[in-house]
Amino acid sequence: MFVFNGPNLSRLGTREPDVYGAETFDDLASLCRQTGRELGLTVDVRQTDDEAELVSWIHEAADGAIPVVLNPAAFTHYSYALRDAIAQRTAPLIEVHISNPASREEFRHTSVVASVASGTIAGFGLRSYELALRAIAEDGR
Ligand code: DQA
Repeated sequence: MFVFNGPNLSRLGTREPDVYGAETFDDLASLCRQTGRELGLTVDVRQTDDEAELVSWIHEAADGAIPVVLNPAAFTHYSYALRDAIAQRTAPLIEVHISNPASREEFRHTSVVASVASGTIAGFGLRSYELALRAIAEDGR
């Protein structure tokens, strides 16, 4: 299965550590792979700053009916292209956020992808990813 990350998430550790914590993107990738191993899932972790690339990865997941954990980062709030790509897939897709966007600036209160995701997990730091991987493993697909 896939764990896809949108713009600026490669900067974890140095990026606004008061909001996103001190752990790096490599720490995040290791946590996802380790959690996957425990759950019997092979996890392919990717990050991009490019909207077109992220859309193409969602197409890849849709074509293979492969489950996805997705942190769309800032694309969450305005990318209808990403929303339309997500709407095409059939396997579970869980939207995750490290922070809790609902408790932050007004523009973060809107997610244009939430209504086409299977569900959303936000506000638990890197644990949001772990919880999402567990939700996918328990889904049984
Ligand atoms: C984020 C929240 C978004 O609002 C923000 O643009 C991000 C990270 C999170 O994981 O908390 O880049 O998706």
